[in-house]
Amino acid sequence: MTEPTLTTERLHLRPLVPADAPSLFEVFRLPEVARWSGQGTPMVDVSEATTRIERAPGRAGDHPAAALFATERLDTGAFVGMTLLVPLPPSAGNERRVHEVGWHLHPDAWGHGFATEAATALVQRGFDAGMSGIFAVTDPDNVRSQAVCGRLGMTDLGLTTDWYDQELRAFRLDRG
Ligand SMILES: CC(C)(COP(=O)(O)OP(=O)(O)OC[C@H]1O[C@@H](n2cnc3c(N)ncnc32)[C@H](O)[C@@H]1OP(=O)(O)O)[C@@H](O)C(=O)NCCC(=O)NCCS
Repeated sequence: MTEPTLTTERLHLRPLVPADAPSLFEVFRLPEVARWSGQGTPMVDVSEATTRIERAPGRAGDHPAAALFATERLDTGAFVGMTLLVPLPPSAGNERRVHEVGWHLHPDAWGHGFATEAATALVQRGFDAGMSGIFAVTDPDNVRSQAVCGRLGMTDLGLTTDWYDQELRAFRLDRG
């Protein structure tokens, strides 16, 4: 059975709940975080974070390992951001059904290895639950995120329009 939460050496990952909205807003109101996801527009109101949390179960789909995770430090309990293991939205005409791992941290939490630590646990969770390969997609210019993919040992697949109906740099890690 897949547990709803994960604990790593320094982090606790648990499904987002409505009470996380103010913390999530503090992350996605920042241009340096928001520019790399969705429309690239910073949130301007906490209600946008509430909406994102409300939509999380639909975004995660029905795979038991998939979720959007509030990610917190074990030592202080601080909310460092959101990490995720969710279906990768295929572009029009792409029939492949795979999952992506992702990370969006508050800048105060950058430079500690937290994204790599959380993602390492998430890919293992996916593999343990039967996923054979897990993807990550990044804006072509998002060097920090691509560095996380490298630290995870992912294979760089180069630029592709297979996902999200836009050109992204994709990475894949295979089980075993
Ligand atoms: C992308 C993002 C998650 C990367 O965060 P990050 O902290 O740089 O990534 P990691 O968790 O892999 O940490 C690595 C850094 O921590 C340092 N570090 C410090 N202590 C460490 C430890 N105990 N273990 C590992 N690394 C450690 C590493 O040396 C490295 O530093 P460097 O960037 O100076 O080389 C972060 O920049 C972010 O949230 N950006 C905005 C949102 C975003 O782009 N999301 C991705 C969309 S595709």
